[in-house]
Amino acid sequence: MTNRLFRLQEKGVWHLPFGMDADALIGEYEVAGQGQVFRFFSELAGAEQAALLEQAVGIDLGEVARLSCDWQDGGIGDEDYSSLQPAPYKLHPSSGGDASQWAFASQIGGAALRAGRVAAFTVAGGQGTRLGYDGPKGTFPATPVKQKPLFQLFAEKIRATGERFGQCIDWLIMTSAQNDADTQAFFESNDYFGLESEQVHFFMQGLMPAVDDSGKILMAGKGLIAMSPDGHGGSLRALVRSGHVKRLQAKGVDTISYFQVDNPLVYCIDPVFIGFHLQERAEISSKMVPKAYAGEKVGHFCLRADGRQVVTEYSDLPQELQEKRDPETGDLYFLAGSIAIHVLDLEFVARVGGVEASVLTLPFHFAHKKVPCIDAEGKPVQLTEPNGIKFEMFIFDSLLLAERSLIVETRREDEFSPIKNAIGQDSAESSKRDQSAQALRWLAAAGETVRGIKTVETSPLFAQTETEFVKQWQSLNPKPDLMDGMYLSENVKNLKETS
Ligand code: UTP
Repeated sequence: MTNRLFRLQEKGVWHLPFGMDADALIGEYEVAGQGQVFRFFSELAGAEQAALLEQAVGIDLGEVARLSCDWQDGGIGDEDYSSLQPAPYKLHPSSGGDASQWAFASQIGGAALRAGRVAAFTVAGGQGTRLGYDGPKGTFPATPVKQKPLFQLFAEKIRATGERFGQCIDWLIMTSAQNDADTQAFFESNDYFGLESEQVHFFMQGLMPAVDDSGKILMAGKGLIAMSPDGHGGSLRALVRSGHVKRLQAKGVDTISYFQVDNPLVYCIDPVFIGFHLQERAEISSKMVPKAYAGEKVGHFCLRADGRQVVTEYSDLPQELQEKRDPETGDLYFLAGSIAIHVLDLEFVARVGGVEASVLTLPFHFAHKKVPCIDAEGKPVQLTEPNGIKFEMFIFDSLLLAERSLIVETRREDEFSPIKNAIGQDSAESSKRDQSAQALRWLAAAGETVRGIKTVETSPLFAQTETEFVKQWQSLNPKPDLMDGMYLSENVKNLKETS
């Protein structure tokens, strides 16, 4: 449904799309038991009324009612966990996988990239509440020496891959209503970090209203519905709705490399991963890492009795299954952890994200949270405990809708060190340490002694993988002196950063 409100105020009546007027819309809310949304309507100024109507017309009241019932019935979880098996995955060569298969996949992925069939896709619409940073998360300084913002790091990775394969690779960035303007302004004021402005495409994800325990839509203000982003799974709908699926199809793109905004180590466009995905004709492919410990808070790749792969959240998988071990190897039985890196087939996105295919859309999950809101007198409610339910879709649920899916192992130290929290585990500090550790491993692989050096940063334009790094390093003559705080840029300048 379009969100555009055609404002034609004639004799105090607002005319809405689809031949509906404001009175009819307000009437619909009353019939649906959601009349509180317009409780203060007559007190609002004209522009505020228009804004509220615009919010209200975009909400699917039937969907809200259905989801509220699901929540009251105890959620969507009717999974038979006891029948779950570990999902199979392609072993990384370092775990015994066949290196020749990886080399072949790299050729296939490389050919697809050279043919311009691949676009990059970042989901950046989240609220980043755990990090507590004031601004879009992609603008957060994330690298150990240069303190590059996440967006710059990804831009350089995409640029490096584009240069390697001779293509100007499209980069899709999903934002939300809360951070779209700031995100776009950040790119503009930084000259798109060396990318062409035409290759970077922003679009906003959908919003969902928050409801109270009885299914009533919460109001953030007298003229403002409490809305929040509809989850990273909302990206499939948003890709279709924004017109990017059609646009990409028209230019010959059929494969999307999906990653989240908070993981500096991600290999944004991995030819091997893309190659495996294409070889298997998968609709969605996913990267996994072996879980670090039983209770690690990642989703688990599982296989259902009907043969479908699923990601079961850590909060859903019963503890005894999280801790269960393989009697032969002693490894965790459900070892495969999801790190939210996927390759998606564009046809699949069109099918699952297409509005007409509503039976095939992703399920919503429920989060019981503190949602700032007003009471029946219009006064802010003092919140001591969760008062509202937010609805979110998760990208990994699309596995359930895929006819063919594939899971490929990667090494945690190569590709996963997200910035989620302000301090401690999965924080900027831990991620910067892991980024430095990667650069130090690469230097060691190139034959250097790195004792006593802690902090090093490598530009993606210098190298994106260990193999590339070793080749680049060996071609340097003379080689730079190794020192703490060194930065290897594309032209090996600025080796020592003064902070
Ligand atoms: P998280 O699950 O870490 O959520 O998102 P978050 O909102 O960023 O952070 P918290 O939970 O409030 O601390 C994982 C990825 O999914 C994106 C985020 O931007 C991040 O890249 N995401 C999440 C969206 O794009 N939209 C959403 O509605 C939710």
